[in-house]
Amino acid sequence: MIGAQWGDEGKGKITDLLSRSADVVVRPQGGVNAGHTIVVKGQTFKLHLIPSGILYPDTECIIGSGTVIDPKILLQEFDQLERLNVSADNLFISQTAHVTMPYHRLIDQASEEQRGKHKIGTTGRGIGPTYADKSERTGIRVVDLMDADTLRKRLTWAINYNNVILEKLYNLAPLDPEEVIKEYQVYADRLRPHVIDSSLKIYDAIQHRKNILFEGAQGTLLDLDHGTYPYVTSSNPIAGGACVGSGIGPTMIDRVIGVAKAYTTRVGEGPFPTELDGELNQILCDRGAEFGTTTGRRRRCGWFDGVIGRYAVRINGLDCLAITKLDVLDELDEIKVCVAYELDGKTCDHFPGNASEFARCKPIYKTLPGWKTSTEECRLLEDLPKQALDYLKFLAELMAVPIAIISLGASRDQTIIVEDPIHGPKRALLDANGSPVLSST
Ligand code: IMP
Repeated sequence: MIGAQWGDEGKGKITDLLSRSADVVVRPQGGVNAGHTIVVKGQTFKLHLIPSGILYPDTECIIGSGTVIDPKILLQEFDQLERLNVSADNLFISQTAHVTMPYHRLIDQASEEQRGKHKIGTTGRGIGPTYADKSERTGIRVVDLMDADTLRKRLTWAINYNNVILEKLYNLAPLDPEEVIKEYQVYADRLRPHVIDSSLKIYDAIQHRKNILFEGAQGTLLDLDHGTYPYVTSSNPIAGGACVGSGIGPTMIDRVIGVAKAYTTRVGEGPFPTELDGELNQILCDRGAEFGTTTGRRRRCGWFDGVIGRYAVRINGLDCLAITKLDVLDELDEIKVCVAYELDGKTCDHFPGNASEFARCKPIYKTLPGWKTSTEECRLLEDLPKQALDYLKFLAELMAVPIAIISLGASRDQTIIVEDPIHGPKRALLDANGSPVLSST
């Protein structure tokens, strides 16, 4: 399951839904930049790294090798689970995931400040610098954290190196290697029972025909290679990233489910062709409670972008979509959908990989009538007002992908299951007449 836009598509609720039939949930990439809010027994808490599948007592959860782990925040999540009497015995951490260190956080925040108006708008959680060290081969992995001698050796070198950057480049106080080593050894002792060879465990689960959900964090347009670079995150949230970040082959993935909001949002900087301002932006932001779980930042809001939707279908090989937050559009007189861009006087119906071209794209809209009635109580397709149904059909046709799930509110029951997303629709193909096959029924 992956995000088909810029993250924050409401994946938490869809994960919860899909986790019910999953034996194993794997988080392949990202770090504590992600976040979802969960309400259990009337208590609200926020998870950044631990998959929400942990709330199902028989579901095993794996934080995969493509993730970056901030042990301090991960252990705070353990504490939250403990307070709620939720066992973390079924949580496993890949030995080859990379570890976020205090210098990563400091460098992330300081480099953003130094970039000034060219900043990326990161979450400030040290994600970019942790992945940069991974590529530079100076990173510290979970397996290193588990071995006191290796940790001391690698961390002493890394802190001395990064202290030069902190002091000379950013004018910040240096870190004391001994203090950091001491702090991280305490984390290591708590995490040790959970550390495993995750690729092996996932393979074993596949061999035993277990249902495995790979839960992508962030979204397609934030992908390091295929997103709106440089305004992206530092991992690969696209479907292909699930293989790399879990250590399994592409033939082992049966189905790819994309999650998209019925409109679009984005946090952080970077081009956003369908962004709204004024009253409409305010309405979407208020009705959709569009504030980030991790940073509390207000999300930028805009109309649904079908060009990006088509791109997400292509780049992820989406089999079907879950459309979330349809109810947020309930009160609007009319709703626009971007069907193509105007780029330098020409129509462009695909996402231009070139960042400066994308920044010049202007949306070409199709306007559809609103339904001006609440959809929150709808539980079947037949319950939806005709205009809402037409809107969804329009999106499915525009992207040539079946819509399997429609979400109409935060609670579990505010959902229409159009088709079983796991066993139902397969990828949209063209029929004999060249028309997209939109539904398996
Ligand atoms: P980073 O991942 O903290 O380096 O941030 C890079 C970009 O990705 C920024 O625009 C962030 O706002 C965005 N980003 C990172 N994680 C998420 C997420 O979970 N949801 C939405 N945006 C995110």
